[in-house]
Amino acid sequence: MAAARVIVIPDEVIGTINPNIYGHFAEHLGGCIYEGIWVGEDSPIPNRGGIRLDVVEALCRIRPPVIRWPGGCFADDYHWRDGVGPQEQRPRRLNIWWDDVETNQFGTHEFVRFCRMVGAEPYICGNVGSGSPREMRDWVEYANYPGGTTLSDERAANGNPEPFNVRYWGVGNENWGCGGGFTPEEYAAAYRRFATYLRPLQREAMSLIACGPAGNDTAWTRRFLERVTEGLGGRRNVPFQGYAAHYYCGTAGTATEYTDGQWYHLLSRAREMETLVLQQRAILDGFDPDRKVGLIVDEWGAWHPVEEGTNPRHLYQQNTQRDALVAALSLDIFNRHADKVVMANIAQSINVLQAMVLTDGARMLTTPTYHVYGMYAAHQGKQAVRAIVNGDTIDWADPEADANGSIPQLTGSASVGDGAVTLSLVNSHADEPVEATLALYGAEGTLETRSTLAADDIHAHNTFEVPEAVTPKVDHPDMAVVGGRDGITVTLPPASVTVLGIAL
Ligand code: AHR
Repeated sequence: MAAARVIVIPDEVIGTINPNIYGHFAEHLGGCIYEGIWVGEDSPIPNRGGIRLDVVEALCRIRPPVIRWPGGCFADDYHWRDGVGPQEQRPRRLNIWWDDVETNQFGTHEFVRFCRMVGAEPYICGNVGSGSPREMRDWVEYANYPGGTTLSDERAANGNPEPFNVRYWGVGNENWGCGGGFTPEEYAAAYRRFATYLRPLQREAMSLIACGPAGNDTAWTRRFLERVTEGLGGRRNVPFQGYAAHYYCGTAGTATEYTDGQWYHLLSRAREMETLVLQQRAILDGFDPDRKVGLIVDEWGAWHPVEEGTNPRHLYQQNTQRDALVAALSLDIFNRHADKVVMANIAQSINVLQAMVLTDGARMLTTPTYHVYGMYAAHQGKQAVRAIVNGDTIDWADPEADANGSIPQLTGSASVGDGAVTLSLVNSHADEPVEATLALYGAEGTLETRSTLAADDIHAHNTFEVPEAVTPKVDHPDMAVVGGRDGITVTLPPASVTVLGIAL
């Protein structure tokens, strides 16, 4: 059996793991909002005020800290006024991106209510592409100003006298593409114009988030930062708090059918997130030496080929154990860069791309990716600490794509808080377990809980007929972890994600 060694150094703190790293994204796309969240008050599906309760209950269990809305591409063609006021009077618009008629039954009030129901902060993405600075500044005033202006009084008249205090505002989405087709310089100019009218509305804890690159496009970042900070002086006062990249690790095979080579190929692409984080943060440091700007990845995940029998523009896909590993590898990367990554939003929460939850009418299931979020919730808000993982390397080949490479068999991340170490580990090998020796450096602890998400078949997934084919197994081993070079040995199954709770 392959062997590996893991040493956690509880005193070597990287930074606090911002809970927002475990964020979600919900767009007016396919079945994400309509059916996934909003069913309407008259629906036979149990709901509160139109929001379906089974999905709310499922999401509450994994503690989503923040949800980004309304898009995505949809955001830069969305006019917020369409979604406020009496629901029967709201206009029906063409959703140009995702082949639907938008009924606007789910708007700002409904979104904020949904966020409150699941315990998440709302993150609203404004419209730069087809909107105006005035439209976005009015939206912020409508949502956040306490009262006494026509817009804030309108919010009160629409049912919410208290301000929503929406903390996160994105200034456009993918403005290099569906958000207006800007060059970096053009977007920088547009960003400065929008920010001129948004910054006076910024109260304590309100963050403006600028659109970052497609994947790891370093040229976009350099050119955008150069222009957006022009004339702002020596230690540049970068005019936003968050800078958001998007990275989809793409596909290899289909959502549920793939060879071993394709299994590794996709995991290998997921691991490229680390290169993105390293290179983007290095460029940001050049413009923001005091590190005030947080790096965000507000869309990420696996994007598989369209499933047969589904609308190609609804981006519905199944979710397997392979997706669970994509999620775990990515979350471990964010944890390891907790000193820079302040938010990440998996695309998307329900029924779209790498979803947590799938619905079919009144039926609902949770996916393997969902279970990773549940297991990793223990990291939220803790101190990320250094973990050294040494083990074998897997050489892989995907002849269909003429691709090959190598990835480490075992990877992970660790955090400390509430008197315990949380250690997450991913065994990427498709069919070999690994025996890992775990030690704490300069500390002693007891292994108290162990959750494992494993499957006999790397294609395993949950269906409406068998909704619990892939669920985590939790046990309480109660084994001492000895400090120094000695430790305990745990066997990690192939193709698995494990989270260990070690009491200090
Ligand atoms: O998540 C689906 C789409 O992917 C989003 O609308 C867009 O921002 C990205 O290209």
